[in-house]
Amino acid sequence: MKLAFIGTGYVGLVTAAVMADLGNEAWGLDIDQKRIAGLVKGQMPFFEPGLADLVRKGLKKGRLHFTLSYPEAISPAEIVFICVGTPAQANGETDLKAVLNAARSLAPHLKKGAIVVIKSTIPPPAHLIVEEQIKALAKTKFSLASCPEFLREGQAVKDTFHPERVIIGAGDKAAIAKLLKLHQPLGGQRLVCSPPSAQLIKYAANVFLAMKISFANLIAEVAEKYQAEINEVLAGVGADPRIGSLFLRPGLGYGGSCLPKDLDAFDHLTDPKATGGLLKAIKAINERQLKRCLGKAESLLGSISGQTVAILGLAFKPGTDDCRQAPAIKLIKQFLKSGAKVRAYDPQVGSKLKKQLAEVIYCNGSDQAFEGADLLVLVTEWEEFKDLNWSRVKKLMRKPNIIDGRNLWSSLELIKKGFRYEGFGN
Ligand code: UGA
Repeated sequence: MKLAFIGTGYVGLVTAAVMADLGNEAWGLDIDQKRIAGLVKGQMPFFEPGLADLVRKGLKKGRLHFTLSYPEAISPAEIVFICVGTPAQANGETDLKAVLNAARSLAPHLKKGAIVVIKSTIPPPAHLIVEEQIKALAKTKFSLASCPEFLREGQAVKDTFHPERVIIGAGDKAAIAKLLKLHQPLGGQRLVCSPPSAQLIKYAANVFLAMKISFANLIAEVAEKYQAEINEVLAGVGADPRIGSLFLRPGLGYGGSCLPKDLDAFDHLTDPKATGGLLKAIKAINERQLKRCLGKAESLLGSISGQTVAILGLAFKPGTDDCRQAPAIKLIKQFLKSGAKVRAYDPQVGSKLKKQLAEVIYCNGSDQAFEGADLLVLVTEWEEFKDLNWSRVKKLMRKPNIIDGRNLWSSLELIKKGFRYEGFGN
């Protein structure tokens, strides 16, 4: 099929590359000239495992194309996907500017009978506004669908090839049949529903995930108080299939461009009387984990001022170089404010935060970060941090203090090796 993807971020670029790999002809469109200039040469705008190879393969086979031109991408397309960002406004409400700009720009070039699919996360009933704006400028008949995206950064290619579910929010029978056909080579469940249901599925899923993490963090704090072991507690809780063990990892909490934003947007959609404070509590518990980390630092160091803190991991999670809403940024700001010196290492982020956090010393490897440190804080659980040479770490550090912000390491083992260890809930 001939497809167009408006927006070449994580969703648009990955989906376009996967769809091209499955034999479709896919056009990626963006208003960012630098990004498109790089993509036509096979240069990635961000790090995502497996994506560069897939894009280069698509370019080489002539099935994947990139353009700045709406007529070039949209006129031949049977299906047009809107994959632009929907950031939060200051009050938490979803900013639909980019989606509506895309809708107005694509409308005049639509081919007869084309399907416009909203993949961007938008709150119901925003699809009606999108539809209205396209209708006002379109020269032909089209249909609108809402197919939210569930891919995770760091695993986006894998998630797109092997989705758990494909949600098709559409009313038009021909459009539903075509979208089912397009997704046919992919695995997972199919769920056909109305566009508002599709949009709500996306919010409910992300809010539920955020809730699970905050719940695990709440239990971790209680476990600390009563000398329970959080891993034991959550293993017991997660063993109930009604609850499940995934997304119950306590620590420094969730970040990224999705969970925090979607929680705020959902809070904005709901009546405070209906939520009973649930959504605000999820957010407050998440923010509390940074304060808890600073409290742990104070209890290990006495005063933070003048001490050197080694931060392992800057990305909001492993497998990505994305630092949007990354716990590391907020934490580093607090350490700097308290008078600490910060040395940081992340295998993908490198020194990309230099402009934002100029005072930090960006290291080329974890060993360099440990040099002269009074405290080591693990923020992102990259694979390469799992098995460190602890005797070397101890030699490099000035004081053997560790805060394990993701419960990655064994407290018993580290205490045996002479470290003072603080995790979350143990
Ligand atoms: C999230 C959802 O998981 C995807 O399904 C969704 O498509 C995406 O948002 C989106 O809306 O586009 P993502 O933001 O890539 O994906 O990251 P997650 O894997 O969900 O992780 C979010 C944060 O939660 C990370 O900071 C991670 O470290 C943290 N986390 C995760 C925990 O603190 N504990 C856990 O048990 C799991």
